[in-house]
Amino acid sequence: MAKQIKIFDTTLRDGEQSPGCSMNLQEKLEVAKQLERLKVDVIEAGFAIASPGDFAAVKAIADTVKDCTVASLARALTQDIDRAWEAVKGAAQPRIHTFIATSDIHMQHKLKMKPEDVLNRAVEMVRYAKKYCNDIEFSAEDASRSHPEFLYKIFEAVIAAGATVINVPDTVGYTTPCEYYDLIAGIKNNVPNVDLVDISVHCHNDLGMAVANTLAAARAGATQLECTINGIGERAGNAALEEIVMALHTRKHLFDLETRIDTTQIYRSSRLISTLTGVQVQPNKAVVGANAFAHESGIHQHGVLAEKSTYEIMTPESIGLSQNKMVLGKHSGRHAFDDRLKTLGYSLTKEELDAAFKEFKILADKKKVVQDRDLEALVEEKSVEIPEVYHLERFVINSGNTITSTASVKLIKNDEEVEEVSTGDGPVDAAFKAIDKIVGIPFTLEDYVLHSVTEGKDAQGEVVVKIRMEEELFTGRGLSTDVVEASVKAYVNAVNKMLYEATLQEGACVCL
Ligand code: KIV
Ligand code: ZN
Repeated sequence: MAKQIKIFDTTLRDGEQSPGCSMNLQEKLEVAKQLERLKVDVIEAGFAIASPGDFAAVKAIADTVKDCTVASLARALTQDIDRAWEAVKGAAQPRIHTFIATSDIHMQHKLKMKPEDVLNRAVEMVRYAKKYCNDIEFSAEDASRSHPEFLYKIFEAVIAAGATVINVPDTVGYTTPCEYYDLIAGIKNNVPNVDLVDISVHCHNDLGMAVANTLAAARAGATQLECTINGIGERAGNAALEEIVMALHTRKHLFDLETRIDTTQIYRSSRLISTLTGVQVQPNKAVVGANAFAHESGIHQHGVLAEKSTYEIMTPESIGLSQNKMVLGKHSGRHAFDDRLKTLGYSLTKEELDAAFKEFKILADKKKVVQDRDLEALVEEKSVEIPEVYHLERFVINSGNTITSTASVKLIKNDEEVEEVSTGDGPVDAAFKAIDKIVGIPFTLEDYVLHSVTEGKDAQGEVVVKIRMEEELFTGRGLSTDVVEASVKAYVNAVNKMLYEATLQEGACVCL
């Protein structure tokens, strides 16, 4: 029988830490619920001491999720561990994840500590964390560039002090599959008490080998694999969950390892992360890219039509991508709509369904056929609603290639209408400037991306904007068959998130 291997998801910690991937509390909670549906074993919900916002998110996730272990990261410092425990103590299965660097380069230049002091601190902090919580993960940061003999010593000592998981991160994405295999095998053979704990691996993708390294480690005996949805994470990202899981699944005979993951939730998880972060998945991305199951060349198409397995090593259905492309239109009823959403993996509450059906009818009036991608975009737009400070009432644009664009935008705030007019460099710029006047606080537009959800002249445009206020980035999303309307909606959505977050956030931020 295949051995069970654990999946530790750090999308909400290492993933969220990467540029442009920040999420607010509601969004993180939505991701955590999806990770629970996906059946990951561990959700690393954040770094509780990093900011009050991080703390609130870790706590909310710990108090909500029932079927996964919920972990918070903590440096090997008592104040970090206190804060991590405070955040995860309500979880059904809490974990404190503490770390300290073990490579010469980090100990000398970053920590300015001697190896023996690092070892003592690690042991002391694992013991300290153990007072609170049984499940303690210890990470030797930059393990792949550390002396293996030092790793053996520190791992043996932290296990004796109560660690239940030892993690061997390739923090800078430096290792290679053969080398990492040997490192994990060396730990298995040289740490006498290692059989008492899980051996975890955590790979970054700087040389494009994060997934390969993770799989090599799994073959060498690692029992927990750390990863993120879509491979988001620091710099070039972390090992991608969907790639690791589908490699183990597709090559079961080779690995003889099984995860608890419901693979049919993979596509939806990927969509959710790209929608919330506004970071698009590249079309040729393994497993979840738009072209991952598209066969373009005649020879391939012919082969697939004759027998799918000629060019398909896994089925689209296995990751939750439905091939049954039933389209809906303006005559489709609520039942067909509800049915289609269920097939796509969405289970909405009655209120959510009512709201989505209303939007669907408006869309179906503008578009002849509503495709699955339209429905996904529509539901995802509604999936994480935050309290609206401003609501778009209407806008009027006067634009052309021989005149200066002018926009008049009317928003509603606390039942009061506020209207401003502005000129700008094109209709979108004019509308954004009018909104800036209404909001009246300084922030900057950092990014604007427009793409069409499906093909065709009547396709919906999806706009993602990122705005910055001081150090913080806020992502807004808007959807419409009219690209200016999609832009205005996205901008107002980002402003609402910024204002909402401002009411939650206070205090300083600790960075890794
Ligand atoms: O990459 C890394 O070393 C980390 C640790 C904090 C686990 O993210
Ligand atoms: Zn990392």
